[in-house]
Amino acid sequence: MISEIEDIKAEIQAMNGAPPEGVEAFRVKYLGRKGKMKQLYEGFKTIPNDEKREVGRLLNELKSFIEQRIAEWSSTEGPEDHDRRDLTRPGTTVGLGATHPISIVKNEVVDIFKRIGFVLSEGPEIEDDWHNFSALNFPPEHPARDMQDTFFVDEDHALRTHTSSVQVRVMESTPPPIRTISPGRVFRNEAISARSHCIFHQIEGLYIDKGVSFADLKQTLLYFAKELLGEQTDIRLRPSYFPFTEPSAEVDVYWGLETETDYRITKGTGWLEILGCGMVDPNVLSNCNIDPEVYSGFAFGMGIERLAMLKFQIPDIRMFFENDLRFLTQFR
Ligand code: DAH
Repeated sequence: MISEIEDIKAEIQAMNGAPPEGVEAFRVKYLGRKGKMKQLYEGFKTIPNDEKREVGRLLNELKSFIEQRIAEWSSTEGPEDHDRRDLTRPGTTVGLGATHPISIVKNEVVDIFKRIGFVLSEGPEIEDDWHNFSALNFPPEHPARDMQDTFFVDEDHALRTHTSSVQVRVMESTPPPIRTISPGRVFRNEAISARSHCIFHQIEGLYIDKGVSFADLKQTLLYFAKELLGEQTDIRLRPSYFPFTEPSAEVDVYWGLETETDYRITKGTGWLEILGCGMVDPNVLSNCNIDPEVYSGFAFGMGIERLAMLKFQIPDIRMFFENDLRFLTQFR
C-alpha cells in the first residue's frame, strides 16, 4: 500500500502545469466519491494494526498534497498559469484619443504668441465683480454690462463673461513689463443656436511696457494673422468701443470671395472679423496700480470657437460640446 501511495504522488508530481483533463475532472478522479483516495481509505481498513500509524500518516499527507495542487491550479495567479499563457495572442488595444478642435486652435494661437515672448496665464472661471467688470471700467450701471449678461453665483460672483478678467489679475500681481496670453472658458446668458452658445472659449493678450504704441499693436496683430492664416493674409482695423480700451478697434482678416461659402461667411465683403483690441484705458492701469503716466500698453481678445469653425469648416457651434465621437475622431 505504501508503494501505491508513492506511485500516485509521483504521478501527480510529474504533471507539468495543470492537468490536461481540467482541474475539476482531476479532483473527481482523486478526491471524488469513487476516487483514488476513497479506494485507498477502503484498503486502509484491511491492513494490519501495527502498520496503520505509518500508512495513515502517508495517506493524510497525500490528501493534503492533492488539495494543495488543486488550490494552486484554481487560482489564476498560480505559478503554473504562466506556462499556459499564450504569448502570441493579440493584446488588448488601448484606444488613442484625439485633441479637441478647441484645444488644437488654442495651442496654435498660444504658440504663435509664445514665439514673440508672451507667457501663459490663467484665471478662475468663477470671477468677482471687480475683476470681470469694475476694474475694466464697467461702472455698476453701465449699459455695456447688459451685453455681457451671465450666470450669477451670488451678489458679487459670476461665471466670467470674458478672459479680460485675467488681464486685471496679471497686472495686479506683476510689475511691468508684461507680455501675457490667457486662454480660457467663458460664459454668457445667450440663447443657444448654431452661431452662439452660453459656454465658449476666448484668448486674451496683454502687453504693458514703457512707450507701447498703437503701431506696436497693429504690427503684432499682422504678425499673428500671417502666422495663423498664411503669409498672404491682410488685416484691417475698424474703430469700435470697449470700456477697457481707448482707442478700441475690431480687426478683420481678408478671407476672400472665391466660393459661395466665402460669400456667406463674409457677407459678401471678403472681410471677416476675428478679434477686438485697443490701447489699455489709463483708468484700467490705475485700477491695477500701474502708473499710466509711465506705462502704456495694448490688449486684445478673440473667440476660439469662431476661429475653429473657420479653420475646420464646422457649421454649428454646438458640435464642440456634444462629445460625439464621430465628430471628435476626425481631428486625430
Ligand atoms: N473682452 C472682449 C469681449 O469679450 C474682447 C476684447 C476686446 C478683449 C478688446 C480685449 C480688448 O482685451 O482689448 O468681447
